[in-house]
Amino acid sequence: MNISMMNLKAQYAKVKTDILRNLKEILSEQKLILGKYCSLLESTIAGYVGVPYAISCANGTDALILSLMALGLQEGDEVITTPYTFFSTASSIALVGAKPVFVDIERDNMNIDPGLIEGAITAKTKAIVVVHLFGKLCDMERICSIGKKHGLPVVEDMAQSLGSRVNGRMSGSFGDVAALSFYPTKNLGGIGEGGMVFTTRKDLGEKLTKLRVHGMGNTQYFHEMIGINSRLDEIKACALVVKFPYLDLWNRKRVENARYYNKKLNGLPMTLPIIEDDTSHIFHQYVVRVKERNHLQNFLKDKGIQTGIYYPVPLHLQHCFTYLEYRKGDFPVTEEACLTSLALPVYPELKRVEKTYIVDAIREFFHSA
Ligand SMILES: Cc1ncc(COP(=O)(O)O)c(C=O)c1O
Repeated sequence: MNISMMNLKAQYAKVKTDILRNLKEILSEQKLILGKYCSLLESTIAGYVGVPYAISCANGTDALILSLMALGLQEGDEVITTPYTFFSTASSIALVGAKPVFVDIERDNMNIDPGLIEGAITAKTKAIVVVHLFGKLCDMERICSIGKKHGLPVVEDMAQSLGSRVNGRMSGSFGDVAALSFYPTKNLGGIGEGGMVFTTRKDLGEKLTKLRVHGMGNTQYFHEMIGINSRLDEIKACALVVKFPYLDLWNRKRVENARYYNKKLNGLPMTLPIIEDDTSHIFHQYVVRVKERNHLQNFLKDKGIQTGIYYPVPLHLQHCFTYLEYRKGDFPVTEEACLTSLALPVYPELKRVEKTYIVDAIREFFHSA
């Protein structure tokens, strides 16, 4: 049996007819950028997240860059974030000229440890960027109260967490600003790159709308600020509009799959993700931690099962961040996670027989070891 980390073709089969109909319409109308589908997507997802402003853009990395630009970050500023995340959480900070300041993660949920944030605040700190990693919401109540206490805006990197919520409150609605990715493998994935920024703040909402089009206001070629070109194409927006109504169902199926794994893998010498409830983790990735990670990965590969390593190198030890002068050992929980974490296929279309096959293969690995 061959099982990959995603089955985008199975997902596409469900939505193909509607997407093709929209594409045909767009191509015949030739309104190609920031048109009615972008507007519809923005208003739909703003309503879903529960914020007044949603600004679509070219990708999730730009969504982060735009968020930081809107907050006015610049050279010499420090931004506190996690070293255990995808690269662009920190590269976006560096790209606006600021300095990423890392603090370690919590062992249980692999998100930034709120207990370590205050210790990293200096006079130069200008923002806190948190990541709802693998789809698990951070402790936003605690993080936002730290931000409030120190007058620091909080940015949510929600690239992996659209739809995760606590007491009905959605990821993306807690911080000053939030950045989403529509990369094809995300829980709501597009037919190309795409991103969106959310905010509850009118000042930021208005600024973001300008920043994504070169800083232009309503009058063309009059630039109120220096922005970037980060618009969303209609062909991408129209596909996301078709896929969006399935998001909650797809997320529920991911949680079901995660519950299945937790039940069947319980008792094996590996750390399983904690599932507190049905909504605060939407399992963009189902990540276990296991000492013999590389052996297990090869064993599963030989059985036709693809797995993923998120992330093999912590950001503080990435070559490009040498100038930050971090050392091995600075963030032990993150470093251990990078050595031991293994993501299993958890996508919504995963069949029962495939899940059973994966669980049996993992059991076989430990029993034959
Ligand atoms: C946590 C996180 N932040 C940011 C991004 C960047 O998104 P994009 O690939 O759309 O630029 C991603 C996606 O890969 C991500 O997983």
